[in-house]
Order: sequence, then structure tokens, then C-alpha cells
Amino acid sequence: MYKTHGCGTLRKEHIGQEVTLAGWVHRRRDHGGVIFIDLRDESGLVQVVASPEIHGQAYEDLDPVRVEWVVQVRGHVRARPAGTENPKLPTGEVEVTAEEVRVLNRAKPLPFPVHKDDPVDESVRLKYRYLDLRRARMKRNLRLRHRVIRFIRDYLDARGFIEVETPILFKSTPEGARDYLVPSRLYPGHFYALPQSPQQLKQLLMVAGFEKYYQIARCFRDEDQRGDRQPEFTQLDLEMAFVSRREDVMDLIEGLMTQMVKTVVPEKRLFQEPFPRMTYQEAMARYGTDRPDIRFGLELKDVTDLAREVEFQVFARVARKGGLVKGLNAKGLGNMSRREIDELVKFAQQHGAKGLAWVAITPDGEVKSPIAKFFAEGQMHALRERLEAEPGDLLLFVADVDHDVTNDVLARLRVHLADRLRLRDPNVLAFLWVIDFPYVFWNEEEGRWDPSHHLFTRPLDEDIPLLDTDPGKARGAQYDLVLNGSEIGGGSLRIHERWLQEKVFGLIGLDIEDARRKFGHMLEAFEYGAPPHGGIALGLDRIVMLLADEPSIREVIAFPKNQAARDLMADAPSPVTEEQLRELHIRVVLPESTEV
Ligand code: AMO
Ligand code: AMP
Repeated sequence: MYKTHGCGTLRKEHIGQEVTLAGWVHRRRDHGGVIFIDLRDESGLVQVVASPEIHGQAYEDLDPVRVEWVVQVRGHVRARPAGTENPKLPTGEVEVTAEEVRVLNRAKPLPFPVHKDDPVDESVRLKYRYLDLRRARMKRNLRLRHRVIRFIRDYLDARGFIEVETPILFKSTPEGARDYLVPSRLYPGHFYALPQSPQQLKQLLMVAGFEKYYQIARCFRDEDQRGDRQPEFTQLDLEMAFVSRREDVMDLIEGLMTQMVKTVVPEKRLFQEPFPRMTYQEAMARYGTDRPDIRFGLELKDVTDLAREVEFQVFARVARKGGLVKGLNAKGLGNMSRREIDELVKFAQQHGAKGLAWVAITPDGEVKSPIAKFFAEGQMHALRERLEAEPGDLLLFVADVDHDVTNDVLARLRVHLADRLRLRDPNVLAFLWVIDFPYVFWNEEEGRWDPSHHLFTRPLDEDIPLLDTDPGKARGAQYDLVLNGSEIGGGSLRIHERWLQEKVFGLIGLDIEDARRKFGHMLEAFEYGAPPHGGIALGLDRIVMLLADEPSIREVIAFPKNQAARDLMADAPSPVTEEQLRELHIRVVLPESTEV
């Protein structure tokens, strides 16, 4: 046994006891004749003191020891001298005398200090991730992640769910991203695909008669990287047989999330209980996005009808062409300087708006605006009334023929302004269910309907006839869970009938032969007594990121890829030998522009 106690566990009660500790040298102070080190292990820190008076040999052995060396120390716990206690440390009332010191391993000078959480360039952190993970912030985050996952497992186990592992080497299970492929050595020219989610497999488990399944599942998606996306990430994946209503799944997840928050992060407050439920249409109308942050107002208001009548051509033309003109009231920002407003205009343009019209109302009621001159008095009055404007407010408007542009820009502006107004309190958790998504979206470029969730989602039963007449009006039996403006989960009731699945394949333009090649196993399974079923998947990395108040999911994943999808520590992806390629029957054809 290298140690009798964890460094961080020693207290006043241990005074007088002999202990053996082992860990890393966190900090070292030499006071000429007395050496103090903070010794760190997973349990925390304790001060070790060495001097010739305490033990000559131990003092000499500790003398050459430097930061991050691994050492073992035997000695006695004693009270720190009066006045030298450290109330910030749990072990701050005691110290350990060094009576025997063994160096277990040395450390080179580190590329960055690990005893503090000061900012370090992320590429350096990722290259030396094993050092980065020594730091308190990452320890805190990974421990939180562990507690979240453990809570989930206990909660679902108590409700009769069983965890089943599904394969990583599989066939394409599409969720709208590109697949990662794995070449087969045994079958030249054939490939496995890594699952984008266990979607098909969990449905097949329902056909197999496992009525309540879950899995902490790794998913793989080759898509553009962002702060909340990784090429491989973890879902809580879940499926239930014999569910007839969306609420059967939603209520279970709501209970899980509510209890989890109260147990794991009791210092946080739930914004609303039960979680509010909102249709997709309402979310788009009020917030311009299907994942609104509802911790604050600043809601969008449609002013297209008013815009049609005004002399301001930007508005009138967009309104007459069937476009969308919306505004938001930035409460209390009416005294923004011209330069600050110009920055907002630039922000809007960077996100695709042609411009940003504004009307500032000074605290004493004076209207300042480059567009006011195009409005009759009554028109300006109507506009102000629609946005519930008061003196001191700033009204911002976007007009675009493309409704998505108007909504998207104002949704981003809304969050941007809320940050500025400090309206996004990280200690408040605002969960929201979004339901009644359109079943399919028209893909203008490809000229076809795309599923808004995935291929296996069920339309609402009452909307099934619409698939033949007006697919764009049909709603899916889908539900998304949103937390503080992030999409943290999505699920649906599923199709369990072959005819309906084939109909949907047809609707989204999948050739039936092609569909049978790709998904024949699903279609066939549906003919062997598939029960009605439904489920959901929650993005675990995103949930932990939000609970940890971190800006990116990389901060809550032990060994993440960087934003260019590379592992900087192991240097992956990397070339392989000719021999390996030959074995896999693969020839590499490099694009001309690639620098290798
Ligand atoms: P969906 O594709 O919505 O649904 O994924 C579920 C949740 O997973 C998280 N997520 C991601 N997290 C990190 N990096 C990524 N690249 C990434 N992509 C998605 C999100 C998202 O809400 N099979 C369905 C679920 C179902 O129908 O049961 C699915 O995977 O938080
Ligand atoms: P302009 O006539 O182009 O000088 O624009 C007059 C004002 O209208 C400026 O403040 C522009 O930022 C704004 N503006 C221009 N296009 C749009 C648009 N599509 N939506 C909202 N405001 C716009």
C-alpha cells in the first residue's frame, strides 16, 4: 500500500497519528531550513513540512523534489502553528511532518502550470491533455459528468430499464450528417459505418421484446465542428415499447432531469416546473428559433402587416413579396451610442441580414432613427405600440424575403443583447419542450422533402392523410428538449408498420429498391410483430456543459477532438503504412490542394 490516507482527507481528528501519503507535489516553498510542499492526490491537498529538526534525512530527500514529482511521505499529522491555518483548505488546520521521503517519479518542467486554472492556449492543453486533466477545473467537470451518468443509471434502473450495448461497427444509421466509414479487410470494397446514433438498433430491441431500453451510447457524426459539437459524442439513448402518447416519454425524461438537477446540482434553480411545452410554430414566432432561451423576454414581434403600408421601401417591398418583417424591443438600451448601434448592424449583417433598422427612444421620449422619416405619425405609433415601446427603449427590425433569415438574425441578436444586459443567469436552468414540428421540410436545393427529425419518426396519427395531400402541413410526433437555448435532446414516437415506413421513404424521395437495400432489416422486422414504440436521446456532453457553466463540450470530455476534428495529443487522424492500406484493399487518391 503506497498510502494510508488520502491527502485531502486529513483533519484535526487525525492529529498525532502516523500517516503515509503519496501524490504529486502541487507547490513547493523553501523558507531556508524549512521546506513546505503541498502534496496533492485525487482527494485533495495537504501541507507537508520538512526540516532538519523534524528529520534530517527526510529533509535532504525532499530538498531536490520539484513541482509535479510523485513522492511518498511518511510522518505525523500535527496542528499548524497558531496563525498559520489556511481556512480556504479543508485540510488547512493540519500539516504532516516529513519523516521519510521516497521519490516515486520525477517530472520535467511542465508546459503550463497545473496548480491553477489560468487560461492556457487550448491547443497546448489538448496536446498535454493528461496534464490539463490534473487541473481543478477539469477534475470538477469530469466528476460532475460521472455523477450525472450515475444518477441516470440509478434512476432508469429503478424504473425497470435495462442497459444494452449496441454495435459500433454497423451499417449507416443516418441522422443527417456524413458517416464515418471503416473499411473491411475480409470483404474488399465493403465498409462498416459507425452509427450516428443507435436509432435502428434500439427500435429492433423493441421488436425483440425488451420493453424498456437505455444506453450511454457513443455516436459518430462527420459534420462541421462547433462549440457544442464533436465528431464523437455521448447520448443517453432510450426507447420504450407500448407508448401511445408523446407524454409517456416526455414525463419520464422530465422526472429524470428534474430529480437529477436537484440531486447533482442543488445550487441551481429550475426556471419552471413542470417544464413548459411550446409548439414549433409558437417558438419560431416568439423567439425566431426552435430552441429558445426562455430565461428572459426580448420576444420578437411580427410587424409585416404594418410594414406593407410604409414609405420605407426596404420594409414595404419585403412585405409585399411575402417576406417577413420582425422587430424586437431591446428594453432600456435607447441610450446606446451611434457606434454601439453600428456594431449591432454589423452583427446582423455578419449573420446574413441585409441591414438592421432601428428606432431609439431616448429617456425623455425623443425618437432617433434613420427610418423615422419614412413613417407617418400613426404608423410610427402603431409600430411602437406593437413592440410595447417606452422611453429608453431601442427597437430593432430585420426585413427579409427569406423568413429564415429574419428569424435567425433576430434570434441571435436577442441572445447577444441578453448577454449584454446580463439576463442569462447560469444558475437558472430553463428547460422547455418543443413539440408539433413540421414532419418534413422542403429542400429547395434538392427539390425534395427532408425529414425534420429522422426517417423513423411517426407523423401525428391525425396528420397521416396529409402525407398524400399537403406534406408540408403534417406534424411529426416529435419532441425536442431545450435547456437555456441549447438543444439537449430529441425523440419521437416511431413508425412500426411497414406500409407507413415505405410511404415515408417514398415521400422523402428514397427509391424503394434503395430503401430496401439500406433498411430492409427494419422493414422486415416490422412484419414480425413490432410493438408501438417511442424514445428519445439526450446529448450528455451538452447537458454536463450547461450544468458546469462551460462554454464548450470539449471542457467536459476527457479526450476531445479540437475544432478541426483532430486529436492533438495522439496526432490523429494520421497516415497509415502502405502495408495496412494494401491489406484493406485501399488506394489513397489525394486532392491536389492537400498539404501532407
Ligand atoms: P438527435 O440527432 O437530435 O436525435 O440527437 C440527440 C441529441 O444529441 C446531441 N447531439 C450532439 N452532441 C454533441 N455533438 C454532436 N455532434 C451532436 N449531435 C447531436 C444533441 C441532440 O439533441 N436517434 C435520435 C434520437 C431519437 O429519436 O431517439 C437522435 O440521435 O443534444
Ligand atoms: P439604406 O436605405 O440601405 O441606407 O438603409 C436604411 C436603414 O435600413 C439602415 O439602417 C439599414 O441598416 C436598414 N436596412 C437595410 N436593409 C434592411 C433590411 N433588410 N432589414 C432591416 N433593415 C434594413
